[in-house]
Amino acid sequence: MRILSIESSCDETACAVVEDGTRVLSNVVATQIDEHRLYGGVVPEIASRRHSENISAVVSKALADCGMELSDIDAIAVTYAPGLIGALLVGISFAKGLSMASGKPLIPVHHIAGHIAANYISHPELKPPYLCLVVSGGHSHIVEVLDYTTYRVIGRTRDDAAGECFDKVARTIGYEYPGGKFIDAAAKAGNPNAYRFPQPKVAGSELDFSFSGLKTAVINLVHNANQKGEKLCPEDIAASFQKTVCDILVKKTMLAAEQTGHKVLSVAGGVSANSGIRDAMQKACADRGITLYLPELKYCGDNAAMIGCQGYYDYLAGKRADESLNGIATLSLENI
Ligand code: KG4
Ligand code: ZN
Repeated sequence: MRILSIESSCDETACAVVEDGTRVLSNVVATQIDEHRLYGGVVPEIASRRHSENISAVVSKALADCGMELSDIDAIAVTYAPGLIGALLVGISFAKGLSMASGKPLIPVHHIAGHIAANYISHPELKPPYLCLVVSGGHSHIVEVLDYTTYRVIGRTRDDAAGECFDKVARTIGYEYPGGKFIDAAAKAGNPNAYRFPQPKVAGSELDFSFSGLKTAVINLVHNANQKGEKLCPEDIAASFQKTVCDILVKKTMLAAEQTGHKVLSVAGGVSANSGIRDAMQKACADRGITLYLPELKYCGDNAAMIGCQGYYDYLAGKRADESLNGIATLSLENI
């Protein structure tokens, strides 16, 4: 079964053609990041406008790249939640138009479910149930993936998402938006033990995250040094910060594995591209006999192949949308 999938929840206009949930026949991503970088973050109004301008060409290219026409496609999948509402609506409206004009079924896909499904593309042997750590620009969750379309969220952030924290710390030490990948690169040249940053405790749930205290600790360190005219080493800050994030993510995820008894784990979302996190997870899992799956780097950040993959499983589960499909800015994985 061939699915044409569309993703436009944030600042990437993306379209892919995916066969039977695992074979990616084409995968086109048009990023707007250069323009948003000027403002230090994604500007929703600009994102919607650029999606409107780009979507038609992106979809045409995804079909052309695999030598297909709309008549070769069996269904249309689209991200409908969560995300920037104006941005989501561009992809949804386009997908509805395609579905109505062609008579092909329309499948609504949850963006985080898509990130989780990115691991099925590279690892078809990965099968639920298992545990997934989702770390992206907008979300940090520990999720029990019960089957391909059912989830239990057992840990979540109380404030900032992991990616948001990477980006804010990066800005504080002088890197461009989105700074996660610059922290990753700088950390390789720094001393991870140069600074001791706090690992916030979350009252009430030991599986929940809190990253705002860590972010504030880095900001305070840099501001205090600036006021005193002292010079800090950005690589040392990056390495110490990244080590702290790794420690927090590994500790909570391993605790979740211990509590739930899962012996299979995956990591998903934009921050899963981080080399420190990949290494730390690999080591922690090897020590405990846990099988770990990591997405290929090209499927870590936002893309439509992951939506086409999840769309396949949603289709098999009977999920369909009609022309009344709307975008939803905030929607828990547990309520889809
Ligand atoms: O999943 P994603 O593409 O978008 C959302 O759904 O939010 O995640 C984007 C986030 C950004 O915060 C970006 O800085 C972060 O992923 N990121 C990284 C790395 N590459 C991307 N963070 C740390 N290390 C990286 N190598
Ligand atoms: Zn995402």
